[in-house]
Amino acid sequence: MTEQNFIPKAFSKSVEKGSFTWSSPSNIALVKYWGKKADQIPENPSISFTLDACKTTTTLSFSKKNSSSDFSFDVFLDDEKKDDFKPKIKTFFKRIERYVPFLKDYHFKIETSNTFPHSSGIASSASGMSALALCLMSIKRELNPDMPNDYFHQKASFLARLGSGSACRSIEGDLVVWGRHVEIDGSSDLYGIKYPYEVHPNFENYQDTILLVDKGEKQVSSTVGHNLMHGHPFAEQRFGQAHSNLSKLIDVFKTGDLNAFIQIVESEALSLHAMMMTSMPYFILMKPNTLKIINKIWEFRQDTGLHVSFTLDAGANVHVLYPANEAESVLEFIKNELVAYCQNGHYICDKIGFGAKQL
Ligand code: PMV
Repeated sequence: MTEQNFIPKAFSKSVEKGSFTWSSPSNIALVKYWGKKADQIPENPSISFTLDACKTTTTLSFSKKNSSSDFSFDVFLDDEKKDDFKPKIKTFFKRIERYVPFLKDYHFKIETSNTFPHSSGIASSASGMSALALCLMSIKRELNPDMPNDYFHQKASFLARLGSGSACRSIEGDLVVWGRHVEIDGSSDLYGIKYPYEVHPNFENYQDTILLVDKGEKQVSSTVGHNLMHGHPFAEQRFGQAHSNLSKLIDVFKTGDLNAFIQIVESEALSLHAMMMTSMPYFILMKPNTLKIINKIWEFRQDTGLHVSFTLDAGANVHVLYPANEAESVLEFIKNELVAYCQNGHYICDKIGFGAKQL
């Protein structure tokens, strides 16, 4: 598959107006994507757990307009008009226009809402861009009704990637790989795929409690962050490390070795932050409470032998990961020992989910 495969031929039908609604989840990377080439091509492969509860629901209404000279759309978040979201969506539309050439033929109304608070520090770009990409693909399917389902999902992921890289991992499947990896058949830099190999029952229903340590605006936007990897002194080592961690995870998913899983996932989180600390300019995105939580998790794991671990995004919040059969004890620990470090005591209980749904 190349980009060319996603450029459509003539449409077989025409549609005047309509509306589609998709609900799409956020995801949390286990092997992190950090660094990209032109056109949102990742510097290294990544893999993520799809989340279940943290979702964006988007309704895209469309009606044919007279002139096709420019994009025309309005955006609403929770029924409130959001003109400040427009530049990002316009950039997205410009990037994908070749692949969905009907964009200038319609006026769009984009109505969106998140199940998680907007100001939680949880990135809504993965769930938001994937939901929008899926709505656009639904229009495309109206125009080309014989489109196979696999192609629908693949192209939705391809489009979502052009909105926000990690969004391509939010379309379909509980574990999603994005980026070419020699040991993973079908993996591609262009879109995410469902992890194709055996996954041990230890990972079924895996839990993720997100501790909201800092709900402020992101200190470093993803765009700035990915750019920091250009000319980074450790870039090549980091990209190599991601490949090798993904190789190791193939075996871990098969055998269900939770201790090995913990080692890889925590090391990935710290490596991501290490990249930010050693770039120019440099950033520390962890807060004192992030470190307190990490140390508490390590202590608790040592004392109990339970398989609780953490991962981080490009921010201070902590994702606490643990298997479903240890949920009762770990939740007790979270409530008693960790919630105190969350801003206003806020946290979100989530778990592994299966991808987007049309409503
Ligand atoms: O999708 P972006 O461009 O916002 O980048 C996301 C990067 C991380 O969340 C830090 C890692 C990842 O793989 O999701």
